[in-house]
Amino acid sequence: MTSSFHFSLLFFSLLSLSPALAKASFHPHALLLPVQKDPSTLLYVTQLNLGTPLASEKLTLDLGGQFLWVDCEKGYSSTTYRPARCGSAKCSLAGADTCLECFSTSRPGCSNNTCELFPENTVISAATNGDLGSDVVSIQSTNGFNLGGIVYVPHFLFVCAPKFLLKAIHRTGVVFFGPGPYHFLLNTDASTPLIYTPLLLNPTSTVAVAGYSKPTTSSNYFIGVTSIQINQITVPNINASLLSIDHEGNGGTKISTVTPYTVLQTSIYTAVTKFFQNQLSGIPTVAATTPFKLCYNVTNFLGTRVEYNVLLIDLVLQNATVTWPIFGANSMVQVSDEVTCLGFVDGGLNPRTSIVIGGHQIEDNLLEFDLSASRLGFTSSLLFRETFQWHGP
Ligand SMILES: *[C@@H]1O[C@H](CO)[C@@H](O)[C@H](O)[C@H]1NC(C)=O
Ligand SMILES: *[C@@H]1O[C@H](CO)[C@@H](O)[C@H](O)[C@H]1NC(C)=O
Ligand SMILES: *[C@@H]1O[C@H](CO)[C@@H](O)[C@H](O)[C@H]1NC(C)=O
Ligand SMILES: *[C@@H]1O[C@H](CO)[C@@H](O)[C@H](O)[C@H]1NC(C)=O
Repeated sequence: MTSSFHFSLLFFSLLSLSPALAKASFHPHALLLPVQKDPSTLLYVTQLNLGTPLASEKLTLDLGGQFLWVDCEKGYSSTTYRPARCGSAKCSLAGADTCLECFSTSRPGCSNNTCELFPENTVISAATNGDLGSDVVSIQSTNGFNLGGIVYVPHFLFVCAPKFLLKAIHRTGVVFFGPGPYHFLLNTDASTPLIYTPLLLNPTSTVAVAGYSKPTTSSNYFIGVTSIQINQITVPNINASLLSIDHEGNGGTKISTVTPYTVLQTSIYTAVTKFFQNQLSGIPTVAATTPFKLCYNVTNFLGTRVEYNVLLIDLVLQNATVTWPIFGANSMVQVSDEVTCLGFVDGGLNPRTSIVIGGHQIEDNLLEFDLSASRLGFTSSLLFRETFQWHGP
């Protein structure tokens, strides 16, 4: 195989600030944040310029996170940082209705009469409380096609969190982007019509840490997968009730940027891998490589990187004509020079969410989280489109 076979960089997104957060100080442009994959953790990272003087913060992107948070214990110092005072408009905007006091030296992240939020590190399933504050942020703008000027957001709200939340991430600064204040915009161009599916509301939060979060509507993005097809044939024996979200918030399908590979509830995983193998009958499997269970010799799949000459997997959405096609580049993971595996993992018998669509399956796809219309727009792999070549500023 050629080197073009290897993972090329990213899926990336245009991030747009909501008018509410940006307040009256500027009208929302589309704002652009390049997103890259960290090869050691398989997490997606981005960079934001924050504070006065502006300092670059490296951030982890978590579409399911509830709000942005920054490590303020590592010496966050900025002349424009302002704690959000209890009862202020900033606190109500962020839904923060409880107060914190500070019993050490006052600094960003520790001040009296400041409202608190409960950021979660979804990577390690840890949560804690942290001060709500605001500061200046500068972000590259775009009109959706070209880069525009730098936009300054003077009162950007975020949570000043303790260092402990960063445990296991091994980075200097981490922020999770949540849906509340943002929506993702896509580099839509006329030649790429997006396919739309409704974003579903999960009635209960999927935040993993009990006791820290008030029960709320989940901040994760759920979509309605109704069946799965391989080779355009419906995979049999998928329990349909696992695909819908029940009244306790269990089941359904969400999109996660902190999950490297799509995770399927055990019975769905078994149905999919069996059917995939069945459709490739005649092609021998090779020894599996953890965390995958179905692996093949790459020589069986000579072809272009995109097509990978492998079976097409379709996530069928609201009706049979609306599907999310997953081509070889997004379905298979090449684990060595000779071996490629079906890039889905077994999520166990009782996961909270039955299907968690992970990073590998959304790379090189354009996703538009259109919160105002409550829908997800997507294209299948951009690897089909030679013109898509922007690689960050
Ligand atoms: C916050 O208030 C408490 C008691 O009201 C006081 O002991 C503490 O010094 C104050 N903290 C700061 C940083 O001013
Ligand atoms: C399908 O899933 C539901 C929800 O987990 C479960 O209660 C039911 O027993 C399952 N049905 C079958 C046939 O496995
Ligand atoms: C893959 O196939 C090639 C060519 O047939 C062979 O040389 C190689 O040993 C195989 N590798 C594995 C891991 O089966
Ligand atoms: C399928 O859904 C799409 C988008 O919601 C809609 O435009 C289309 O008419 C539907 N097709 C059928 C056959 O129901």
